[in-house]
Amino acid sequence: MRIGMLTGGGDCPGLNAVISAVVRKGVSSYGDEVVGFLDGWLGVIEDRSVTLDEEKCRDILFEGGTILGTSRTNVFKVEGGLDKVRATLDAERIDALVAIGGDDTLGVANKLTSEGVAVVGVPKTIDNDLSATEVTFGFHTAVQIATDAIDRLRTTSASHNRVIVCEVMGRHAGWISLYSGIAGGAVAVLIPEQAFDIDEVCELVRARRARPRSAQVVVVAEGATPKEGSFSTVSGEVDQFGHVRLGGIANLLASEIEARTGFETRAAILGHVQRGGSPTAFDRVLATRFGIAAIDAVHDGGAGTMVALQANEIVRVPLEAAVSAPKLVPKELYDQVAKPLFG
Ligand code: F6P
Repeated sequence: MRIGMLTGGGDCPGLNAVISAVVRKGVSSYGDEVVGFLDGWLGVIEDRSVTLDEEKCRDILFEGGTILGTSRTNVFKVEGGLDKVRATLDAERIDALVAIGGDDTLGVANKLTSEGVAVVGVPKTIDNDLSATEVTFGFHTAVQIATDAIDRLRTTSASHNRVIVCEVMGRHAGWISLYSGIAGGAVAVLIPEQAFDIDEVCELVRARRARPRSAQVVVVAEGATPKEGSFSTVSGEVDQFGHVRLGGIANLLASEIEARTGFETRAAILGHVQRGGSPTAFDRVLATRFGIAAIDAVHDGGAGTMVALQANEIVRVPLEAAVSAPKLVPKELYDQVAKPLFG
């Protein structure tokens, strides 16, 4: 078969491990030819691709980023996008596509499935917000990077007796914030799913500071919002999928904490550091398992599905199930596991 593959949306550690697994198993077990489209769906629309063989994939398993490049292109927001995709798939004689991405990229894959295109999805995102899989690859690495950063912020916070607000990624879902905040012993963890009360946050900071030489790190997800009326946040540009560019809540929060408590407070925004560099061993293995399962699905009637992790087994779920609603942090998990550790 001739298989097309693409990586879309924000990059994520482990993308190259998926690419490597798809190509190596596709070529050696199925005799496939694999075409890598460049820069996500944009490369399919513009018919820009490279041939992927075992040589091209040698030693990429360990590397961050994606050798194919990526973009946040929505086929259905580009004029004539669907026709251009069909034209490319015909010209390149593509039998099936492997789309590696988050809800946006796989949302396009799902719509293409209803248009008769054979697509298998692979769940990628550091945010871990895709439904129907227990975890996405990239999440584990991002949590480790954020936890390492919080560990470092802890020592400088304690030395200077300062509050530090550490902002991590997570637009709608607070998974990175929750995990790194618990692992890093945060004073409080603020997530998009639960609007926070600035007075309560200040109380928790005061309680922590009462302990001499204590680390005073508050972890906040970029998409977290204060309860209505307590203070206002900023909004930015919107991409083709309608997402506002976030980043900066930590600065506002730091000013508010300082103004309300009188404690010196600084902000540290981790930003794209969380998406860069090598995947952890866990993500290398998970991404490899997903890649192997994806190429098997292509050959085994799995078009229209996404490979997923459930109870440590790789399974197939309808693409529709993966993209219909984001997987958010359940209130019970936040209330029962994170909150008791605050302060
Ligand atoms: O979707 C993953 C993600 O890393 C989000 O957590 C973050 O809001 C967004 O991408 C940032 O996107 P960009 O790379 O376009 O700034």
